[in-house]
Amino acid sequence: MSTNKGKFITLEGGEGVGKTTNVPFIRDYLESRGIPVTVTREPGGTLVAEKIRGLLLDKNSEDLTDQTEILLMFAARSQHLKKVIQPALAQGQWVLCDRFTDATYAYQGGGRGMSLAVIQWLENFVQGDLRPDLTFLLDIPVEIGMSRAKNRSVELDRFESEHSQFFDRIRQVYLQQAQHYPARIKVINADQPLESVQEQLIETLNKLLS
Ligand code: TMP
Repeated sequence: MSTNKGKFITLEGGEGVGKTTNVPFIRDYLESRGIPVTVTREPGGTLVAEKIRGLLLDKNSEDLTDQTEILLMFAARSQHLKKVIQPALAQGQWVLCDRFTDATYAYQGGGRGMSLAVIQWLENFVQGDLRPDLTFLLDIPVEIGMSRAKNRSVELDRFESEHSQFFDRIRQVYLQQAQHYPARIKVINADQPLESVQEQLIETLNKLLS
């Protein structure tokens, strides 16, 4: 049984879905309700995990095998969990994390074709029974997300440089995950005005608060 006093919220979606705008929005809303929030991200969130992030996103380095990629994701996650996420939850902080293991199912499972059994094994090995309490999946058609990502980046990273079929598969797996875990994953259509997206974020957060 979990001894966590805080709640663990994750934000997911393909490229260009608006996580960068909505993470601070959710943090500000929770803080306005008197909740202490730790904001963090994956891959990353600690000194070592941020170094691993650098390896994962660098497209000008040597090719990474799919196995190296997934093991680096979980290596970073292990560090992040032990150093940041678990201590914060145990102290009663709420943790708001920009991406977590649903991204591994989507990117490494859907995108790269890694087997579900391998991902599940690594998930159990690294996380034990820790899973997010709530996940927002911001969903938009791939072409719209990619054009937003291209407009904002000076240079695309190793993932953003992938082809559109890669992102189609990612979106499919994210939506499958949401069907599989309807109580945890709230899908939000992110291809609508920001105010409507944020109204739905608040509505769902209020349910978690009540
Ligand atoms: P970001 O662009 O949201 O900061 O995330 C960095 C990239 O890492 C993004 O393209 C998705 C990718 N990623 C994975 O492939 N697997 C994972 O488990 C995580 C957390 C991120």
